[in-house]
Amino acid sequence: MSGGKAISLEDLPGVGATTAEKLRDAGFREVSSVAAASASELKDAVGIGEAAANRIIMAAKESLDIRFRTGREMLEKRKSVKKISTGSSALDNLLGGGIETQAISEFYGEFGSGKTQIAHQAAVNVQLPEEKGGLGRGAIFIDTENTFRPERIIQMAEGLELDPDEALERIQVARAYNSDDQILWAEKAAEIAQSGEVGLIIVDSLTAQFRSDYAGRGTLASRQQKLNQHMHTLQRAADLNNLAVIVTNQVMAKPDIFFGDPTAPIGGHIVGHTSTFRLYLRKSKGGKRVARLVDSPNLPDGEAIFMVKQEGIRD
Ligand code: GTP
Ligand code: MG
Repeated sequence: MSGGKAISLEDLPGVGATTAEKLRDAGFREVSSVAAASASELKDAVGIGEAAANRIIMAAKESLDIRFRTGREMLEKRKSVKKISTGSSALDNLLGGGIETQAISEFYGEFGSGKTQIAHQAAVNVQLPEEKGGLGRGAIFIDTENTFRPERIIQMAEGLELDPDEALERIQVARAYNSDDQILWAEKAAEIAQSGEVGLIIVDSLTAQFRSDYAGRGTLASRQQKLNQHMHTLQRAADLNNLAVIVTNQVMAKPDIFFGDPTAPIGGHIVGHTSTFRLYLRKSKGGKRVARLVDSPNLPDGEAIFMVKQEGIRD
């Protein structure tokens, strides 16, 4: 983990004003995005050789104190992981206790499957004290589809006997109108989160703007690269501030596929690989919703049934 002062691109050896500008133009706005880049990405962005690109990447890693950790250090870090209740004990159990900090949890599923509802509930629940399933902290909601509804927050806060005004006050909402906007809001969120007041960053939806901004392009490489960088910004904010990140991803059900996963998350495998937890949501009979944990580094796969009620997410 990095600590201390923020360094700028120009502080990296081998990066002058021109190179820094080219990096920024290519979307590498922070030293952390350079640290996470591949040499070929930097080569293309700046027009330098592979060896020079590798030197810049290593310098960026060193400046951020990115280094090997011992198993013991990793265990200490795991011990500080906290969990936010979803409102449903079945869903919490599936998640090993709730939505984890230091991780990105991706909820994907078709329209109306409950992704946005879970996001709203988590924005309220994070405010609860720890003994009630929260973190006693606020939330940031990056809204890309105009789905944030303060009225829904009020209902959910009332369902938990929280002061609705205060609950609304502790959620910071930004509307992202395109994918670049979304990327900038995530960077801003990471900055605000340094105060320690924020326990949860939500991006609802992660993929919608990327899908429309990059629709019909011959190559998806730049979309994937941008999305990957965006996810990296979020993961880093999660790590540095021990906060949780929730992203949503709409998928179309493909009932003609009988084997394997009947859905493919929009955004392709990059998203799948960089989310720590992936939950597939589907509608079921009688207003029920089914969540399936698709892959997780430390939990068994399984399913949970939950409901979306007036007062919020419940068993
Ligand atoms: P997309 O964003 O379209 O992909 O869908 P989503 O997965 O985000 O769906 P969302 O979370 O918006 O779920 C919408 C569903 O939640 C509705 O169809 C309702 O079934 C349920 N819902 C939303 N608000 C309420 C409410 O106030 N009361 C109850 N009982 N159910 C609600
Ligand atoms: Mg939604």
